[in-house]
Amino acid sequence: MEELKTLIKEEELTERITELANQISNDYQGKEIILISILKGSIFFTVELAKKLNNPNVKIDFMRVSSYEGKRTKSSGKIKLKLDVLEKDIKGKDVIIIEDIIDTGNTLAYLIKHLQKKKPNSIKLCTLLDKPERRETEINVDYVGFKIPNEFVVGYGLDVDDHYRCLPYVGYFKKKTLTKK
Ligand code: IMP
Ligand code: MG
Repeated sequence: MEELKTLIKEEELTERITELANQISNDYQGKEIILISILKGSIFFTVELAKKLNNPNVKIDFMRVSSYEGKRTKSSGKIKLKLDVLEKDIKGKDVIIIEDIIDTGNTLAYLIKHLQKKKPNSIKLCTLLDKPERRETEINVDYVGFKIPNEFVVGYGLDVDDHYRCLPYVGYFKKKTLTKK
């Protein structure tokens, strides 16, 4: 039996996202920014962050990558680009990739390589959550919301086979210990 526990409360998420937005606003003063939100997990984070950037030149685009299949809670290691519909040409633009979580780092390493071919002026990475213990591919992450322990988390965009994605907080599953009566 597993019990869903809260790891990061909604208020804590909002507070940290505000801090990240302030930091990004400072770094990109007056510049156009293209946020590339990685579907579906990073939609909640992207929306909250984008609203707080308070910059008329922030644009949002989407990509979809998949490395998990079915009910697995471990990456299959095979990364597939499922949707690459960047409407805007990112050549010469300043791009920030918005991720929900960085685990092995394989997805982002793949994405960066893919996007670099389109010759943007710069690519930075922003993730809500980071599980540094699990890293297989070294990548430089510019903005991190929370470093978390090696637990499988759900909520605020993160899912298990499309479940739990719409929880307003980040939770994890804790094994219930059976107590004998
Ligand atoms: P990576 O390629 O191993 O870094 O995996 C990144 C992707 O795996 C994330 O964008 C998530 O979609 C998914 N993922 C990794 N860890 C978790 C987790 O704890 N909960 C839900 N999804 C996760
Ligand atoms: Mg993802």
